[in-house]
Amino acid sequence: MCGIVGYIGSNMAAPILINGLKKLEYRGYDSAGVAIFEDNDLKVIKSKGRLAILEEKVNKDMPKGLIGIGHTRWATHGEPNDLNSHPHISHSGKIAVVHNGIIENYIELKEFLQSEGYKFVSETDTEVVAHLIDYHYKGDIVEAVIESINEVEGSYALGVICKDCDDKFVAARKDSPLVVGLGKNENFIASDIPAILEYTRDVYILEDKEVVVLSSDNVKVFNNHGAEVKKEIFKVNWDVSAAEKSGYEHFMMKEMFEEPKVIRDTISPRIKDGSISLDNINITSEDLEKIEKIYIVACGTAYHAGVVGKYVIEKLARIPVEVDVASEFRYRDPLITNKNLVIIISQSGETLDTLFALREAKKKGARVLSIVNVVGSSISRESDDVLYTWAGPEIAVASTKAYNTQLSALYLVAMDFAMKKGHIEEGFYKKFIEDLKNIPQVIESVLANKEVIQRFASEHYNAKSIFFIGRGLDYALSMEGSLKLKEISYIHSEAYAGGELKHGTIALIEEGTLVICPMTQDNLMDKMISNIREVKARGATVLAITKESNQQVEKVADVVVTIPDVDSLIAPIAAVTPLQLFAYYMAIQKGCDVDKPRNLAKSVTVE
Ligand code: G6P
Repeated sequence: MCGIVGYIGSNMAAPILINGLKKLEYRGYDSAGVAIFEDNDLKVIKSKGRLAILEEKVNKDMPKGLIGIGHTRWATHGEPNDLNSHPHISHSGKIAVVHNGIIENYIELKEFLQSEGYKFVSETDTEVVAHLIDYHYKGDIVEAVIESINEVEGSYALGVICKDCDDKFVAARKDSPLVVGLGKNENFIASDIPAILEYTRDVYILEDKEVVVLSSDNVKVFNNHGAEVKKEIFKVNWDVSAAEKSGYEHFMMKEMFEEPKVIRDTISPRIKDGSISLDNINITSEDLEKIEKIYIVACGTAYHAGVVGKYVIEKLARIPVEVDVASEFRYRDPLITNKNLVIIISQSGETLDTLFALREAKKKGARVLSIVNVVGSSISRESDDVLYTWAGPEIAVASTKAYNTQLSALYLVAMDFAMKKGHIEEGFYKKFIEDLKNIPQVIESVLANKEVIQRFASEHYNAKSIFFIGRGLDYALSMEGSLKLKEISYIHSEAYAGGELKHGTIALIEEGTLVICPMTQDNLMDKMISNIREVKARGATVLAITKESNQQVEKVADVVVTIPDVDSLIAPIAAVTPLQLFAYYMAIQKGCDVDKPRNLAKSVTVE
């Protein structure tokens, strides 16, 4: 999704902006631009397509100014072209604006501004903000921004520079992330920390409707009534290398190889003296008695983690669980009361639909526990309880290691609840914890055998359509495997519950159709073997992913990828890795841009 970087200091702004935007490339974008304050004027350079094109343009005619804002745009209003890309300049040429988010009342505002004589050149909602600030500007840029944000509806992270201001620039946010980076004789804004991590680790995290004024040696934050707000410095504790490829060809591969470590980081600190201890989350046995139902709400891969969570929490803790896609949940007037616990899952902690679902749940009185990766993100700040997934920065658009850690966190929650509700025996609890601690080794062994999957992908990358079938937890896994494949290789695929196959999809199986079968559930093995026979009888080629001891699978599947034997209940944490590897190698074979798949964004901060 769109990225923002802003700079003021004693260095030339343009190279710093381009460098910062490069760090945000992973978010997904289709055009880019910068605006620099130079010689009492605003110099704007922008272009459609990759950042490298903008960089070339900037290098040809390098602006020397020390204040600037930059943007990578992921088109929402208006196609990706030079005109619609940011920064946008106001009618008078005085104000330049970059914006993430969506201005919902932009048509009304546009009509008003047009009636005031403002001419619009782009199809974007952002241009309205530039003109609106211009309209309110009577010599005080901060006042003009505050008046403007009080009139716009929707979501925004804004960076604003003004032709009359040679010593400051302004930024603001609502429902779209923005941080302020505090440097020495220089200060920054960014929509995401990696953009400025090279320069500073001290940041302010802005709250909704806060406005910040940055000069090179000072930063002041105000609320939307103009009163100054005291901010606490947040120290970023991960280092730059965490956001770099470190010798791997792609972030996605690097992140898959980080899975053993990040699972350990997520699980180990929560196991004390052989028992689960969920940070400071104090959901007691009495609280659990009152919970009639749990809702798990998320988007994309995090939603698929939630589907696993449903199976596991229901099985272990015996509490009914409903899993919902956030964009559906928030608009369907869900039956939430204070007798519900809502578990929100999000890697970024900024997905707008998920954030709004959280607010809906809280409004209706539910307690919200979120499973989030990014510390200080909006979702983490607005939840009652937060369980961080210590996956570190995930840069590849297609989520991998974050999913494994989301599952790890959900297993901890399920086990903790189950124990508190008295549904499991001590012996089972202890063994389960040991099995969970063993998962990183299991994944190490899966990664060491990645060539089997690589070879299979090299033989099948021309497939036009692929089916994933599984039962129980393997059905949940199938959904994630199918999504991963679609996201990065652009091959059509569908995930189906093994037993549901004969009610439709089987009509699409013909000679040579590829069917991928995760088969980690011991109690469902015979049923899945029957499903494989059904598709094989119609000509399918089958790749099965199963545990080493399930040798009977070899008799029916064409190719078998094995994972070391693990308890069926936790097998998904490890069995997803071969599916991620499969998507990766299929995409590589097809020559796709694995880390930056077309049209997708890492952090979706629009509806
Ligand atoms: C986007 C990303 C997905 C991600 C989803 C939810 O669609 O491309 O990879 O799973 O958002 O993101 P979140 O940050 O809330 O987990």
